[in-house]
Amino acid sequence: MKIFRTPEELQSYALECKRSGKRIALVPTMGFLHNGHASLIDIARQRGDEVFVSIFVNPTQFAPNEDLDKYPRDFENDCKLCEAHGATAVFAPAPESMYESDRSIWVDEMVLSKVLCGKSRPIHFRGVLTVVAKLFNLALPDVAVFGKKDAQQAIIIKRMVRDLNFPVEIVLGDLIRDTDNVAMSSRNRYLSEDERTRARSISQSVFAAEATLKAEGFKAVAQVIADAQKRITEAGGVVDYVEIRDAENLEEPTAASRELLFAVAAFFGTTRLIDNCFVKVL
Ligand code: PAJ
Repeated sequence: MKIFRTPEELQSYALECKRSGKRIALVPTMGFLHNGHASLIDIARQRGDEVFVSIFVNPTQFAPNEDLDKYPRDFENDCKLCEAHGATAVFAPAPESMYESDRSIWVDEMVLSKVLCGKSRPIHFRGVLTVVAKLFNLALPDVAVFGKKDAQQAIIIKRMVRDLNFPVEIVLGDLIRDTDNVAMSSRNRYLSEDERTRARSISQSVFAAEATLKAEGFKAVAQVIADAQKRITEAGGVVDYVEIRDAENLEEPTAASRELLFAVAAFFGTTRLIDNCFVKVL
C-alpha cells in the first residue's frame, strides 16, 4: 500500500493510473477509522482497481469553537485497517500542503446546507465541499464512496457533483452501528461510559421513528419528532435538532414525499452526535 503525503504525489500517481486504464475508487475520511469507514473501503474495493483512502482532518470544516485540535488521530492503526481492507493507497497530507495561506476560492452550497446540521454549523459544508472538490481533482476517482451516517453531507456532495459536472459516481454505504446500536463515529471516543449508555437513546429514537414512519407514513411526522425529543431529553441529552425532511431535497416533507429522512443531532456532555434513517413511504 502506497502512502502519499503531498497533493502532487497523489495527483501524479492518479494520472498514471488513469493513463493505464485503471478505475479509481476514493474513500474520503478524517481518520481514526472504524468499521463504518471499513465498510466504505470494502465497497470501494469492489468498484475500483485502485482504492484510495484519504485521511485528512480538514481544518476548514471546523468552526473556531469546535473540536479540530482534539479530533482523535491514530495514523498507524488507520493504515493497518486500510491495508486489511484492500486499499492500494493512503493520502495523508499536511494541512499546509492542502491550503495556501492566501487561498480565496471556496465551493459553497446555498440551499441544502442551510438546514439540519448547517443551522448549527454554518461554515461546515463549505469546508466539506471545498475539500471534497480538491480531493476529486487530486485523486481523479471514477467513483467515490460516502456513508449514509452523514446523510446531509452525502446529499450535498451529490448535488455538487451534479451541479459542477464532476465525472464521479457517488456511492453511499449503509450506516454501521456498534454492538450497543450507537452509530459508529470517531467522536464516540469523547464519551464517558455513562454518556455512552445514555447516548443509546439516540439510536432507540431512530429505530422507533423508522418503525412508526414505515407503518404510518407522513401523518406520523409530528408525533415521531416529539417522541424522539422526549426520549433523548429524558436520557440527559441536549437536542440540537430532531427533524424529518423530504430525503430528495431536504425540504419540509409533504404527503407526496416518497422518502423521508429522520435526522437527529444531540449533545451528550460536550460531544455532539448525529444519527438518522431513510424511510421509503410511498
Ligand atoms: P469522517 O467523519 O471521517 O467520515 C468519512 C466517511 O465515513 C463519511 O462518508 C462518513 O459518512 C462515513 N462514516 C462515518 N461513520 C460511519 C458509520 N457509522 N457508518 C457508515 N459510514 C460512516 O465525513 C467526513 O469524515 C468528512 O466530512 C469528509 C467527507 C472526509 C471531508 O473532510
